Amino acid sequence: MTDTAPAAATLAAATREAPAKPATKPARPFFSSGPCAKPPGWHADGLASASLGRSHRSKLGKSRIVHAMDVTRRILKLPDTHRIGIVPASDTGAVEMCLWSMLGARPATILAWESFGEGWVTDVVKQLKIENKVLKAPYGELPDLNSVDWSTDVVFTWNGTTSGVRVPNGDWIADDRQGLAICDATSGIFAADLPWDKLDVVTFSWQKVLGGEGAHGVLILGPRAIERLESYTPAWPLPKIFRMTKGGKFNESIFKGDTINTPSMLAVEDCIWSLEWALGLGGLTALIDRADANAAALDAWVQKTDWIEHLAVDPATRSNTSVCLKFADHAVEGLDDEGKLALVKKIASLLEAEDAAYDVAGYRDAPPGIRIWCGATVETADIEALGPWLDWAYHTAKAA
Ligand SMILES: Cc1ncc(COP(=O)(O)O)c(C=O)c1O
Repeated sequence: MTDTAPAAATLAAATREAPAKPATKPARPFFSSGPCAKPPGWHADGLASASLGRSHRSKLGKSRIVHAMDVTRRILKLPDTHRIGIVPASDTGAVEMCLWSMLGARPATILAWESFGEGWVTDVVKQLKIENKVLKAPYGELPDLNSVDWSTDVVFTWNGTTSGVRVPNGDWIADDRQGLAICDATSGIFAADLPWDKLDVVTFSWQKVLGGEGAHGVLILGPRAIERLESYTPAWPLPKIFRMTKGGKFNESIFKGDTINTPSMLAVEDCIWSLEWALGLGGLTALIDRADANAAALDAWVQKTDWIEHLAVDPATRSNTSVCLKFADHAVEGLDDEGKLALVKKIASLLEAEDAAYDVAGYRDAPPGIRIWCGATVETADIEALGPWLDWAYHTAKAA
């Protein structure tokens, strides 16, 4: 033993010691990136129930579906040129309907910078097997948007939910494109002002920024997408739930409340509650402001915390909804990916056991880290209260 050994041992003991638990917990510890936190004030018994137990094709049932889409249109400031409808199978269903109905008329470009974009690559390359080009970037980055060939159909996500990287705007989408711009916007819509004239297909699910339920997707089609549906028939068969044409003509009724099959009216009523909450706040601008304020509050904590960093390399592409964080190198020195993953799991389970934060572990395919949903249904005060708890959980997990 040397003279410095006792001092070093004391220091080690001190750093091993778990820090004190913060005094204040987030009032609503819901930080999942989907299904996301319900809007503040939401209660199941606050939902309108007259349409429940009734046919979705009854006058009342259909009027509620139409109302949900009308309010959505109002909040999104959707131009009259674009149709909007409810479709089966959540956001995945809405994207798949379009990929399988529209692609193949010309080559496709697929952009992928995280897990969900990768999923669309698999669809196009391995299932549809059409001529394609894949533009990829590692987690934390975007592919070169300016290298996209707009004579092809282009499939991309607005916000990469599992990497926390989003496209900064739509400036890179050509006005004179020949191909379609097909955008999976499920975790970006209602948190960004989307350039509708540049988007031919937009999809999302209520389970994200609206804090609604999964199960149904929302599909928005611009005139060029409709023109494609009427002028092109894919070489492969289409199941009933993907079909948007009838006798070669666009099936307008799907977008006027006549859903392809039976929707959950409970999910529709739940969505209406969220939409009316959003309207009451002031609509799209208010939703974007809330997400921005949440992301800024989280960023303020990241900036003053030495063990954590943003996964998104460029602040201009950093998500204001699914904010993904990684460990600083020195904070996980000596740990391989498995060790880092174990640390993430420990942090998440410590927080859950305290009811301080739920569902903060990063996505299973992403680099090990923490993901905090900052969408509009989360309160900024809860993000502010979360920081000290993340510190507590990290230091407690490390000490263990
Ligand atoms: C970008 C993106 N696309 C697709 C999906 C799949 O959505 P759903 O489960 O609503 O079909 C998700 C879900 O998190 C997502 O984040």
